[in-house]
Amino acid sequence: MERSPDHGSSPEQAPLSSLDEWEEDLRRRYPDPGSPDVDANGTVEGEPFRNYEEGTRDGVREFYRLNHRRQTVEFARAVRKKYLPLRTRRMGLWEAVNELEKLVDDSDPDTDVPQIIHAVQTAESIRADGHPDWFVLTGLIHDLGKVLCLWDEPQWAVVGDTFPVGCAFSDKIVLSEFFAENPDTQSPEYQTPCGIYEPGCGLDNVLMSWGHDEYLYHVLGQHLPVEAQYVIRYHSFYPAHREGEYGHLMNETDREMFAWVRAFNPYDLYTKHEAAPDMGRLLPYYEDLAAKYFPDTLQW
Ligand SMILES: [Fe+2]
Ligand SMILES: [Fe+2]
Repeated sequence: MERSPDHGSSPEQAPLSSLDEWEEDLRRRYPDPGSPDVDANGTVEGEPFRNYEEGTRDGVREFYRLNHRRQTVEFARAVRKKYLPLRTRRMGLWEAVNELEKLVDDSDPDTDVPQIIHAVQTAESIRADGHPDWFVLTGLIHDLGKVLCLWDEPQWAVVGDTFPVGCAFSDKIVLSEFFAENPDTQSPEYQTPCGIYEPGCGLDNVLMSWGHDEYLYHVLGQHLPVEAQYVIRYHSFYPAHREGEYGHLMNETDREMFAWVRAFNPYDLYTKHEAAPDMGRLLPYYEDLAAKYFPDTLQW
């Protein structure tokens, strides 16, 4: 029997040792092509062949099992009803940064870096490449939707690769065999390539699985250019931006904007090894940048 999802420590709530474990696993699935350990085939030196599934940790497998089972059309609609009126809390951007920091306090100090460090490393490498300031700012804030954990959302509803619900699940989604446990697979209406959508309807009309991306898009998107909105909303949509799936639901704008989503991904995944940023020196720059785009208080 499964345990109640109501308690922070239950395996149902938190099969990952920390939210970072999902991102660690992403780096194993999509190794850094710039790393000296990775050859032209994307194979990591020392691993005789690339077999993602074999090396997947139990906690990560359990996390995906829950995610694929529980992210249904019904859940995706209900959780939007709960959060998208944006009446859960009023807080400024930096308050959200601090709250997120407290949340991940119990991460493993050997492998996990504080969220703000990941945020600034992502932003600084975007800045170093001479990108516009909204792209730098997007690097800083892109994961703030993880504050969903403040309200006791289980890990499977905060992180993980995202995908459309209400249509057939692509077999390119990581560990897609777990969708067999998703009740939507019993609904013939949801199991055609387009499901409840029209071909080319555009992703804005598509109900995505719920997580930190979609939530933050609704909180902050209105203050940012459309390119930044796409990065925030779809940065975990690996089945599309890495695997090239779900093109049949996209429109022209989606296709254009996904160039930014793809451009963002290496900054998100591959900047953790860089030297810890000098926060004292950098913070004033980021405070000014955030103040340029966001009001003092935001509705969450
Ligand atoms: Fe993220
Ligand atoms: Fe990230």
